Amino acid sequence: MSSSFGLLLSVLIGLVLVASAANFKQDIDVTWGNGRGKILENGQLLTLTLDRFSGSGFQSKNEYLFGKIDMNMKLVPGNSAGTVTTYYLRSQGSTWDEIDFEFLGNLSGEPYTVHTNVYCGGKGDREQQFHLWFDPTKDFHTYSLLWNPRRIIFSIDGTPIREFKNLESFGVPFPKRQPMRVYSSLWNADDWATRGGLIKTDWSKAPFTASYRNYKADACVWSAGKSSCSSSSGSPSSWLLQELDIGSQQRLRWVQKNYMIYNYCTDTNRFPQGLPKECTVR
Ligand SMILES: *[C@@H]1O[C@H](CO)[C@@H](O)[C@H](O)[C@H]1NC(C)=O
Repeated sequence: MSSSFGLLLSVLIGLVLVASAANFKQDIDVTWGNGRGKILENGQLLTLTLDRFSGSGFQSKNEYLFGKIDMNMKLVPGNSAGTVTTYYLRSQGSTWDEIDFEFLGNLSGEPYTVHTNVYCGGKGDREQQFHLWFDPTKDFHTYSLLWNPRRIIFSIDGTPIREFKNLESFGVPFPKRQPMRVYSSLWNADDWATRGGLIKTDWSKAPFTASYRNYKADACVWSAGKSSCSSSSGSPSSWLLQELDIGSQQRLRWVQKNYMIYNYCTDTNRFPQGLPKECTVR
C-alpha cells in the first residue's frame, strides 16, 4: 500500500499538463503491413487492413507508466470470421506486462467476441470474454484502458466491462513497474479465433479493414527514466485515482451478468489446484 502511494506521489509531482488534439501522425507509428496500415484525413483517421498475404499494425510513439487510453474503433464489418483485431498495452522483454483487448471476428450477423487478459511478468491466464450489447462494425465506439497504481479498468463507451484490482497485499502480481506502449493489429487467426478455428477466413471478402479515430492518452509518458503526466480535464487525479463509483459498479455487474461468456475465475476445471488468488479475495 505505502509503496504504491509513494509511486503515486512521485507520479503526481512529475505532473505536466499537456493539452493536445488527437493526431495519429503525431502519436502513432504504423509498424508493419507494408502499406496495409494507413494514416488518413491529415492524421484524424487510421485504417488497418488484412489480405491473404499480410495483416498490419501500429504502436504508440510514447511509452506510458499508467494512463487512461481511449480509442474509437470500428471493427471489420460483414463476414469477419477468422480475423482478429488486437488493441493492447505491452511492455518490453521476456517478463513483460500486458493489458489486452482482442476482438474475434465472426460470420455476418453473429456476435464478435471481446477477449480480455492481464499479464504480469510474462504470465497471463486471466481471460475474460464478452459479447457486446451493440454491433461494433456499424459505428465507432470508444474502447478504454484505465491503468493506475490501484486498478485496471476495461471499458467500452464509458461502461466498465472488467476491473482488475491491485491485490499485491494478497500476493497477486500487479503491473506497475514497466512502462508500456499501445499496440494494435489486424491479422488472420483462423486456426483458432472463430469457434475454435472451425470457421475459416473467407478471402473472397478481403481486404478486411478496421478503422480508428480520436486516440486520447491521459497518461504519464515515460522517457529517460522520468514520467510526465497529462490530463485533458486538467486534473490528473481524475484518472490516476479513478475508481468505480456506485453507478459504474452497477453497470459492470450488468455487463458481467448479461454479456460475459467466459471467466477464468469460475473455470474450476482449468485450475484443479484451486482458483487464482485474485478470484477468491473479497
Ligand atoms: C460467433 O457466433 C457464435 C454463435 O452465435 C458464438 O457462439 C461465438 O461466441 C461467436 N464468436 C466467435 C469468436 O466465435
